[in-house]
Amino acid sequence: MNIISLLISVLSILFISGPSPINAQQPYYGDPTKVLCNDNGNSNSEFGYTCNGLNKSCQSFLTYRSQSPYNSVSSISLLFGANQSQISQLNSVAENATFDTNQVVLIPVNCSCSGNYYQSNTSFSVQNPNTYSSIANTTFESLTTCQALQDQNNNTTISLLSTIIVPLRCACPTKNQNDSGVNYLLSYLVTSGQTVLIISSMFGVDTNMTLQANSLSFQDSTIYPFTTLLVPLQTTPTSSEVVAPPPPPRPLPHTLPSSNSKTTWVYVLLGIFGGGLVLGAGIFGFYLYFRKNKSKTDAVTTSKSFQSAEKAYENKLKAKTQEVLESIPGISQSLKVYNYEELQSATYNFSPSCWIKGSVYRGTIKGDFAAIKRMEGDVSKEIDILNKISHFNIIGLSGVCYNGGDWYLVYEYAFNGPLSDCIYSNSDYQKCLNWTRRVQIALDVATGLNYIHNYTSPPYVHKNLTCSHVLLDVDFRAKIANFGQARSVELLGGEFALTNQIVGTKGYMAPEYVESGLVSTKLDVYAFGVLLLEILTGKEVSVLSGRVKFHLSEVLAPVVGDENGKDELSDFMDPSLQGNYPAELAVYLAKMVDCCIEKDPADRPGMDEIAQSLSRILNTTLSLLFSNSMSGDSSYSS
Ligand SMILES: *[C@@H]1O[C@H](CO)[C@@H](O)[C@H](O)[C@H]1NC(C)=O
Ligand SMILES: *[C@@H]1O[C@H](CO)[C@@H](O)[C@H](O)[C@H]1NC(C)=O
Ligand SMILES: *[C@@H]1O[C@H](CO)[C@@H](O)[C@H](O)[C@H]1NC(C)=O
Ligand SMILES: *[C@@H]1O[C@H](CO)[C@@H](O)[C@H](O)[C@H]1NC(C)=O
Ligand SMILES: *[C@@H]1O[C@H](CO)[C@@H](O)[C@H](O)[C@H]1NC(C)=O
Ligand SMILES: *[C@@H]1O[C@H](CO)[C@@H](O)[C@H](O)[C@H]1NC(C)=O
Ligand SMILES: *[C@@H]1O[C@H](CO)[C@@H](O)[C@H](O)[C@H]1NC(C)=O
Ligand SMILES: *[C@@H]1O[C@H](CO)[C@@H](O)[C@H](O)[C@H]1NC(C)=O
Ligand SMILES: *[C@@H]1O[C@H](CO)[C@@H](O)[C@H](O)[C@H]1NC(C)=O
Ligand SMILES: *[C@@H]1O[C@H](CO)[C@@H](O)[C@H](O)[C@H]1NC(C)=O
Repeated sequence: MNIISLLISVLSILFISGPSPINAQQPYYGDPTKVLCNDNGNSNSEFGYTCNGLNKSCQSFLTYRSQSPYNSVSSISLLFGANQSQISQLNSVAENATFDTNQVVLIPVNCSCSGNYYQSNTSFSVQNPNTYSSIANTTFESLTTCQALQDQNNNTTISLLSTIIVPLRCACPTKNQNDSGVNYLLSYLVTSGQTVLIISSMFGVDTNMTLQANSLSFQDSTIYPFTTLLVPLQTTPTSSEVVAPPPPPRPLPHTLPSSNSKTTWVYVLLGIFGGGLVLGAGIFGFYLYFRKNKSKTDAVTTSKSFQSAEKAYENKLKAKTQEVLESIPGISQSLKVYNYEELQSATYNFSPSCWIKGSVYRGTIKGDFAAIKRMEGDVSKEIDILNKISHFNIIGLSGVCYNGGDWYLVYEYAFNGPLSDCIYSNSDYQKCLNWTRRVQIALDVATGLNYIHNYTSPPYVHKNLTCSHVLLDVDFRAKIANFGQARSVELLGGEFALTNQIVGTKGYMAPEYVESGLVSTKLDVYAFGVLLLEILTGKEVSVLSGRVKFHLSEVLAPVVGDENGKDELSDFMDPSLQGNYPAELAVYLAKMVDCCIEKDPADRPGMDEIAQSLSRILNTTLSLLFSNSMSGDSSYSS
């Protein structure tokens, strides 16, 4: 696969169509309050799932919510006639463990056809004056129905101390499901507030597959508590999936094939740039060229889907929230004010399984993921700025909440987390940041900064750009976050301003700021240079500064210093790129870093020039790969 089609496929992740439609599988039970115990036969799903699978019997799974007296591995395995050690393994607990009340417990069962229906048998000794209805609804929490119990036990009345057969609702995959890779069907007990989307995402399953498995549709996808929903699984479920929504799956890392062929990309490059420019131009030519061609381009879309999806919130605003929000001039009505209870339910009461980092939690709000950050102190500046700015490369703020002295800010969710996790970590995950993605990330950050410097009124300085304040979405597109220290240049009084409050991150702070508190947009340019240096080298600035005596530019000297910078690249560039990048472009970016970290702020280029240069470098990279793929070589290497 060449990089163009790879990029197209990456970009289209959000729009992928589901698997080809498969036949309706099992009818969903419907609203249980509308079904009376003795009105047999209106809907055959009351007796169980139809025996229409590929196999007459199979392994399947149920979920059960722990409740006294069925709140330990041993009592639950007795109730379901299931193997105790299998239950303890499946739920990652000891065999003598007890569960918290309402904790979801996974139960492995053998499912098989009995007549027209699938079922898994267990037996139950009637101790108290039970009815079939209470056994079905209370003891088995609707994993069976009273119709099925009556049908199975020949009787509408129930005798004390008798033993009845309990047919539990289960099913085996159909041929169509088997063909789409489904190996198990899990009978999930729905509780209030859950939707097909939420349940599917708990198990990392495509929502359309779950809808089809239950003969539901997008238009008619209402599900009810005290019913079972079949979840089509490829692998056995795990306990971590049922505790809380899991992190959404990261896209598979696309690693580039390592190159062993010599290609002619230099000539291609010459062709694209009209000759001489790249190879001949020093960094000054670079600026002159782009200054001449300066034009206002801001191609990136400024949509923020999350915000538009939010509807006006009807509940009363908390007095304090309103008070603080009103003190922020020009606060937009589109910012949603959440109840603390809403955030609690979005994060399973801030459960550890929803914890991301620091005070940030992952929440599910109306089926969408969101990042929820708890903050102390004055957050009005961050709310103010993010509320005014809407840009693809700036993290979106969708809502706020005030509770017990703390603020909670609700942001759009960045699936791939902070750039620092991808750049510094030595995991395989790092390998997915190939050259093209790194250039795209640099361009995204530059575009976001260009936007706040040149396209907002008033202009802003971020003041704390670092590798961990850049977040990556599902497509590895970058979004700038952490605007807590951002300031408007206007308030600071024109282009430059002085402050005696020096706050920032070591290594990213420009010398004029550290030494004399001088604030301008060129602070962000300096920090961007450091960020780009980290993107190229895969090393933290603290590590890099440890290697130099005087100024960070010493790190670049071997690469930018002489004609043969290319020869020095292998020591300079991130080893996980495995040499798979166009050397001339890499040298070019190193020169860009060198300009961005100039000591005199006036010598640093503006973000508009940087964004335009990066845009050209990305285009060149893509053209290069395209040309090479035409000749059967999908690498960038020279
Ligand atoms: C699911 O199916 C519906 C209609 O059948 C389609 O519009 C939608 O794009 C599909 N979504 C996914 C994620 O497959
Ligand atoms: C169906 O049965 C065959 C043979 O026992 C087994 O290999 C296969 O995994 C089963 N398929 C499903 C979907 O249960
Ligand atoms: C399920 O079937 C397998 C193999 O047929 C058997 O080993 C296991 O004991 C059965 N489990 C239960 C709970 O009946
Ligand atoms: C329960 O399962 C374990 C392994 O999964 C097996 O060793 C053991 O024999 C099973 N016990 C019963 C009673 O089936
Ligand atoms: C469970 O058993 C282990 C030994 O197998 C023991 O150390 C532990 O204390 C027991 N836990 C409980 C809650 O009984
Ligand atoms: C479950 O019970 C029903 C009714 O007694 C019986 O027909 C069926 O064979 C049983 N199934 C299994 C797998 O034991
Ligand atoms: C089952 O029990 C719950 C309370 O535990 C109740 O709200 C629900 O209506 C009952 N469902 C049926 C069908 O009786
Ligand atoms: C139900 O009745 C059938 C015959 O009518 C009998 O074979 C079966 O054992 C009975 N089941 C129970 C649980 O009494
Ligand atoms: C149904 O239950 C009643 C009372 O418990 C009993 O007398 C009768 O024999 C049962 N009938 C069947 C078919 O099991
Ligand atoms: C079930 O699916 C597997 C692959 O998912 C396939 O190899 C196998 O042929 C399918 N079985 C049937 C009976 O279609």
